[in-house]
Amino acid sequence: MSAEPKVFVTRRIPQAGLDVLAGKCQVDLWTGDLPPERETLLARAAGMDGLLCLLTERIDAEVMDAAGPGLKVISTLAVGVDHIDLAAATARRIPVGNTPGVLTGATADFTFALLLAAARRVVAGDAYVRAGKWQTWGAQVLLGPEVHGATLGIIGFGRIGQAVAQRAQGFGMRVIYYDPGAAAHPAHPLGVAVDLATLLAEADFITLHTPLTAQTRGLINAAAFEQMKSSAVLINTARGAVVETQALYAALKERRIFAAALDVTDPEPLPANHPLLELDNLIIAPHIASAGVGTRNRMAEIAARNLLAGLSGERLPHCVNPQVYAGLD
Ligand code: DGY
Repeated sequence: MSAEPKVFVTRRIPQAGLDVLAGKCQVDLWTGDLPPERETLLARAAGMDGLLCLLTERIDAEVMDAAGPGLKVISTLAVGVDHIDLAAATARRIPVGNTPGVLTGATADFTFALLLAAARRVVAGDAYVRAGKWQTWGAQVLLGPEVHGATLGIIGFGRIGQAVAQRAQGFGMRVIYYDPGAAAHPAHPLGVAVDLATLLAEADFITLHTPLTAQTRGLINAAAFEQMKSSAVLINTARGAVVETQALYAALKERRIFAAALDVTDPEPLPANHPLLELDNLIIAPHIASAGVGTRNRMAEIAARNLLAGLSGERLPHCVNPQVYAGLD
């Protein structure tokens, strides 16, 4: 019988990650195109030493208990860990790993792709041409707000928020930022710290880069939309639930803001008949901000290394609940 630890990899991941695991553990790989159903997840987790999951799997106490007392590590192929019950993992002294840093550039690039596309009507322009509406050049056709020289309001000024600010410099934008997670806002060379109300009132473009926490859930609600300029564009590449979907729908439908561009939604995925999809001032991408080839390979490698470290009782290279190591140094 093999002495190799057993791991459940809940979805297909880039081969670069599977290569790291090869020969080091016994991999049970879920190969379905959709995430495993809850019952399947619970059944396949049973008896595992490690779990490598995607953000599509809710990993809570029930899953941890289904895995059993041998579960040594949970590793996610994501930087955001709102799909994992960290308190439950910590209570069981299970380290949880994530993949910070490597997706910063790709996510910031994609944020700008959405910002430019929404402002300068790229998707609407493409649809216009394909619909046979392009009869002539028109001085009033598909106008949108200018990006260069505009004010960019960044909510969440960690790695990704700062990388977005860097890109904004190239467009000559004025950057203001607000970080809900920071106790204080020391001066920063890439932007000016402001309070949320000032950011909402002054920004031409508002982009979200906060993790989803109890504090940030629904941060952009009806009251927040009321404070925005009617020409504002909202970009969300963070987590869907940072924005209240109903309030977003109303703000766009009633043209209280100019446009929104989302990579993440609540619910996610968005059902094909969702009212948001009827709006012509909204662009939606299917959560692909980090989907650069090299980025996803690096995320898979890091997730695999976190998993292996946990299996062998070593500290995870990227651990989000380091409290599990308290007293072990
Ligand atoms: C993450 O990693 O949290 C992103 O949302 C997907 O790359």
